[in-house]
Amino acid sequence: MLDEYGFLRGSELDEPALPALYHFVYCSRAADGVDDAEVGRIVESAQRHNLARGITGVLVFGSGVFFQWIEGPAAQIQKLIASLHGDSRHYDIVSLSQSEEERERLYPNWDMEKVEAEDIRLVLQDALESAEDNNNVAALTRILKQLDAGPLNSLGRS
Ligand SMILES: Cc1cc2nc3c(=O)[nH]c(=O)nc-3n(C[C@H](O)[C@H](O)[C@H](O)COP(=O)(O)O)c2cc1C
Repeated sequence: MLDEYGFLRGSELDEPALPALYHFVYCSRAADGVDDAEVGRIVESAQRHNLARGITGVLVFGSGVFFQWIEGPAAQIQKLIASLHGDSRHYDIVSLSQSEEERERLYPNWDMEKVEAEDIRLVLQDALESAEDNNNVAALTRILKQLDAGPLNSLGRS
């Protein structure tokens, strides 16, 4: 609101601008031998690293498939993306979305939270329907096939 001199009132000037926030969403397949215990270790160390780097997000694991949302400062997220691509505990990484926007965090209180996998199939099916890149279509198709193959695959077999 403007005051009688045509200037912005103090309270509005004091309002902090929303931070530029980078987000990266992907899915991938767990490597052989990656079980719930290993995922527990991934989440534990991710929480420690992410807290120090201003990163928050969620990790879904089910039927041998990962789905992760990470958000934070662009430079930190880019470094984590590079680490994720070099991490042999998963493969067939499909980037579903990434961009920088000025907005609030979706998960301000979660350094990295593991969530249950019930909704993962719907999310990936949606991604497949809107995928344009042929490699992404092929990888998403393999991932959905793995999800549909049933609970034995939660042991991490491909
Ligand atoms: C599915 C999955 C999710 C991961 N999520 C994170 C994460 O949120 N934060 C993190 O620091 N490391 C995460 N990691 C581990 C990183 O890939 C990497 O091992 C870690 O950042 C250490 O990397 P550095 O040795 O390059 O520093 C994840 C690994 C996997 C397989």
